[in-house]
Amino acid sequence: MKIAVAGGTGTVGHHVVDVVREQGHEPVILTRSAGIDLITGDGLARALAGVDAVIDVSSTKTLSDAESREFFGTVTRNLLDAEAAAGVGHHVALSIVGVDLAPYGYYAGKVLQEQLVETGPVPWTILRATQFHEFASQLYGRITLGPFVLVPSMQSQPVAAREVAERLVALATDAPAGRVADLAGPRVERMADMVRRYAKAAGKPARIIQMPLPGAYGKAMRVGTLLAKPGADRGVQTFDEWVATVGARGIRSS
Ligand SMILES: NC(=O)c1ccc[n+]([C@@H]2O[C@H](COP(=O)([O-])OP(=O)(O)OC[C@H]3O[C@@H](n4cnc5c(N)ncnc54)[C@H](OP(=O)(O)O)[C@@H]3O)[C@@H](O)[C@H]2O)c1
Repeated sequence: MKIAVAGGTGTVGHHVVDVVREQGHEPVILTRSAGIDLITGDGLARALAGVDAVIDVSSTKTLSDAESREFFGTVTRNLLDAEAAAGVGHHVALSIVGVDLAPYGYYAGKVLQEQLVETGPVPWTILRATQFHEFASQLYGRITLGPFVLVPSMQSQPVAAREVAERLVALATDAPAGRVADLAGPRVERMADMVRRYAKAAGKPARIIQMPLPGAYGKAMRVGTLLAKPGADRGVQTFDEWVATVGARGIRSS
């Protein structure tokens, strides 16, 4: 199969591309670094020629409701329109456990993305996952105060991005299935502890301060809204097992 991966250079996206190749399929990477802009649509129609399925794992780093809705709304509409025109038969989107219970900040865009996919012209599958183990590396250093790294107060049930990628490719190579069972990690962790353990393993300064984010978005992180719900599938690799591989792999933090 020819499988396009929107965001195929990202934290989970590069794993998706690896799994697509390992399983003998042909990946097509849809990112700006590959010459395709999902916001302007430049290069998209040509890239989708002959594609059987699209896996959308693109993302933006904003915490603003409006900016997140603008990004995920524009990207999803552009992708679905181009897929319909190219005759792509399956759109697979990755979302996040609990977003509908906390449709604020970044999650506002994810809720809009789900709605557009569910009502769009292309047969679809949506997988919701919890935070990746790599989220700790994505957060490390994003907000600093002098020598301190500020990390939101957050309960998380982190899952290996590689396991999410394997699930996404399995879904893409099967028939469109609508909303499927969520995928969560094996254990509940505190995000500040995760970032501290990540920093130690990566040999980086680890003066971590946990801070509550304001508003409903921050509350959702703190009170467990984003943890696995009954019926979720569980990944295998624990955060500690992942962090043990960090030094050797020189983990990316894109
Ligand atoms: N991170 C988590 O813990 C987590 C957990 C569950 C679900 N998710 C979901 O998983 C998805 C991927 O997240 P991630 O953390 O792997 O993302 P990421 O590492 O930030 O990667 C984002 C990807 O999107 C691409 N991109 C951004 N703007 C683009 C544009 N205008 N045109 C084309 N490509 C663009 C980037 O490539 P270029 O910069 O080269 O364009 C990159 O490949 C998101 O939908 C997120 O909500 C994330």
